[in-house]
Amino acid sequence: MNLILLGAPGAGKGTQAEKICEKLSIPAISTGNIIREALANGTEMGLKAKEYINAGKLVPDEVVIGIIKERLAEDDCKNGFILDGFPRTIPQAQALDEMGIVIDRVIDIEVADETVVKRMSGRRVCSKCGASYHLEFKKPINDGVCDSCGAELIQRKDDHPDTVLDRLKVYHEQTEPLKDYYEKTGKLKVVEGQEEVKETTALVFEALEN
Ligand code: AP5
Repeated sequence: MNLILLGAPGAGKGTQAEKICEKLSIPAISTGNIIREALANGTEMGLKAKEYINAGKLVPDEVVIGIIKERLAEDDCKNGFILDGFPRTIPQAQALDEMGIVIDRVIDIEVADETVVKRMSGRRVCSKCGASYHLEFKKPINDGVCDSCGAELIQRKDDHPDTVLDRLKVYHEQTEPLKDYYEKTGKLKVVEGQEEVKETTALVFEALEN
């Protein structure tokens, strides 16, 4: 199954992508994670993306389209994939169509802007493996330390409150129109994302089946 997860920053796309990945055994592809990895490795693409990502702005379309083209050509995508954070603009969605990629389902996870701000301010990520935690909703076993690899947990630069507001603005202006784009294809399912993770997961799984 080829899936797209839509939603505001902090809607829980990454969290739900992990659950779907476990259930369907298909890779979850996060353009945000790919860009952050490139940034950490100091690659040319990472350096190009740095100022955009840290300011909460979108990285230029041609850069992310290139990333996705390469990633979807890999072997593990042959039986399906979950796109988390791509497409984020109409031109990115059009590029996916032009690649001849057939999308089976688009799941839009809906949360209020106030919830986004609360979730982002409490998120902490592992400085080494990128695993994601929350100070209130998904606490690590030991404060400030990753359960998986033992490295230090940090706050993403773009999770600082002012940047979160900028990211929300960008989301409403550039990404939200994708709901209409996919509504017209009949592939869109809207899921309520305000409740606890397991409740959202149940709704997401239901949306995959119907
Ligand atoms: P990206 O990493 O994709 O950021 P995002 O979409 O803003 O997504 P997040 O990872 O912040 O949120 P999420 O929805 O995955 O939520 P999560 O599950 O982590 O992109 C970062 C940047 O990269 C962009 O700003 C841009 O610069 C660039 N970029 C990436 N893709 C691009 C593209 N296609 N085009 C251009 N630029 C691009 O949950 C958030 C927190 O809430 C966690 O702490 C989690 O534990 C907690 N949580 C989740 N669900 C619940 C729940 N139900 N109840 C309570 N807490 C919850």
